[in-house]
Amino acid sequence: MCGIVAYVGNRRVAPLLIEGLKRLEYRGYDSAGLAVVNGDGIQVMRSVGRVSVLEQQLAEHGIDDGNGHFAGTLGIAHTRWATHGAPTEVNAHPHTGRTACGHTLAVVHNGIIENYAALRTYLQGQGHEFTSETDTEVLSKLIAQLYEGDLKAAVQAALREVSGAYAIAAICGNEPHTVICARKGSPLIIGIGDRSYIVASDASAIVAHTTQVITLDDYQVARLCAGPVDKKDPVGGPWAEEFQTTTIDNIPVSQQVRALEFDLQKIELGGYSHYMLKEIMEQPDALRNCLRGRLDPRENRVVLGGLDRFTRELVRAKRYVFTAQGTAFHAGLIGQYLIEDMAKIPARCEYASEFRYRNPIIEDDTVIVAVSQSGETADTLAALAEAKDRGALALGVVNVVGSSIARETDVGTYLHVGPEIGVASTKAFVGQVAVMTLMALFLGKRRYMSAQLVSDYLAELEQIPRHIARVLEQSDHIRTCVDRYVDRDNWLFLGRWYNYPVALEGALKLKEISYIHAEGMPAAEMKHGPIALIDEGMPVVFVATRGSQYDKVMSNIEEVRARGGRVIAVATEGDTDISRYADSVFEIPPVSDALAPLLTVIPLQLVAYHAAVLRGLDVDKPRNLAKSVTVE
Ligand code: M6R
Repeated sequence: MCGIVAYVGNRRVAPLLIEGLKRLEYRGYDSAGLAVVNGDGIQVMRSVGRVSVLEQQLAEHGIDDGNGHFAGTLGIAHTRWATHGAPTEVNAHPHTGRTACGHTLAVVHNGIIENYAALRTYLQGQGHEFTSETDTEVLSKLIAQLYEGDLKAAVQAALREVSGAYAIAAICGNEPHTVICARKGSPLIIGIGDRSYIVASDASAIVAHTTQVITLDDYQVARLCAGPVDKKDPVGGPWAEEFQTTTIDNIPVSQQVRALEFDLQKIELGGYSHYMLKEIMEQPDALRNCLRGRLDPRENRVVLGGLDRFTRELVRAKRYVFTAQGTAFHAGLIGQYLIEDMAKIPARCEYASEFRYRNPIIEDDTVIVAVSQSGETADTLAALAEAKDRGALALGVVNVVGSSIARETDVGTYLHVGPEIGVASTKAFVGQVAVMTLMALFLGKRRYMSAQLVSDYLAELEQIPRHIARVLEQSDHIRTCVDRYVDRDNWLFLGRWYNYPVALEGALKLKEISYIHAEGMPAAEMKHGPIALIDEGMPVVFVATRGSQYDKVMSNIEEVRARGGRVIAVATEGDTDISRYADSVFEIPPVSDALAPLLTVIPLQLVAYHAAVLRGLDVDKPRNLAKSVTVE
């Protein structure tokens, strides 16, 4: 949800900021902008649309013409996902403010300033004129209002006045070698480079420059300076760098520098036309990485080092509450089934946004499980905090190492599926389900599961990456089938038990990237109303694997066929019965009910992908969406 890049150092900043924005564009892409300190002033450029538009605009204004346009080595940049105000040039960041002593400053901001309306009124009373509808402009004017020659002090003072969430970077024409950044509730990472600092809202914009990073915590402010010691010899003379972190109340905090474990290659397209396709296709390897070192079939056990500290509490817990949003919520539903089925502990899964505000009852010995790819989803973080306040033990199932949820939980398990760039989550879902399967086996073995059953599941799990690779071979066949229905505007996705959340996920994938209206539901629910939608030719996708629910699902298939619907079935290899009833069949290798979602979701990801491509849509940047939703 919006991306920030800021740099101070010895390199020309504008191209570097553009490159960083491109890496962050998946976080938001309705407008973009940058500000560069150049001489005594700040040059700002903003544009509507993708970062490439901004890049083009900069080129037209002669950034490389040697005339000094945008020539500085200190700057900030932003790619936006609109919250306050439409995606227009005036609403795009950076926003500027003018100090009483006549200096200009510029600010980029992720998050939401909740009390912006009152602050705006106050600032208007002080003579500030606003040009945008954004909460960020309020922040930039507030910092300007409080500026008395020290940008860090002004930022701290301003942040003490605001409520809401923020990650910000600010620069001032009067301090040409300094970036100030701060965060509360929205991620911000500082990279320590050679004679430079680079700040970004996620690691993908940093990793090309340095692997040494600091992650800011809430209410922390950093002052980053890099520049020549001798102003008369800015190029050849000695150079000084300094970083300093404090709280917004100016209490010094010491920071640990850590090494980024992030492979640049993993965030490149690597020959694929879209990140989504790349991430779908790399799922066999992603899952191998996720399972590596965690299955020990010889000892018949699951190794989850991240749970060690509270194993006893986790095994004796009376209830598990999964909480998440979107795709992670669907994975959480499967987590609920797994914990009840394998560990025999009561479990439920709730939308984090609902859980937080419904005054939930948390009984003693409850474990709250926050499931999130990014580890930054605002709703999930808020639900986690609520449950912790009410005494729950917090467990994280997270992909991004060092993210807020990872840091806010008592115990946790990372997915280890690598960075996910595509806005439509794919490999993270498979990783989440795999990790929760491991957790359920980990607990089940310590409770009621027989050694034989654990051993059978471990053996099956080991084969899943290979099975996924086999399912992926059907990509062309799936595309041909989707081509037949891609003009239909309404689709249904149906499944039972473990395959019901997969049906929800199939529908979400289709609607978010192809803009086709799709609904997922339990197969049996169809006859309680939605069956009225079925008319001649309507595509209905059944997740109908051979398992305990098979016969019931077959009856539902008959009901659809009788009304003229077209049946697309995800079925078990060798199921000759289903091919008599379905118009198209996508096959998965035979597998237990509990492990089926790891395979049945794969054809549905490909259905959505091919539908979007066939409709000529931008798969990796679907309209109105952003990768990480850091506002409530
Ligand atoms: O980063 P998270 O897993 O917490 O994100 C949760 C949802 O915002 C996310 O899954 C969203 O629904 C995706 N666009 C689904 O593809």
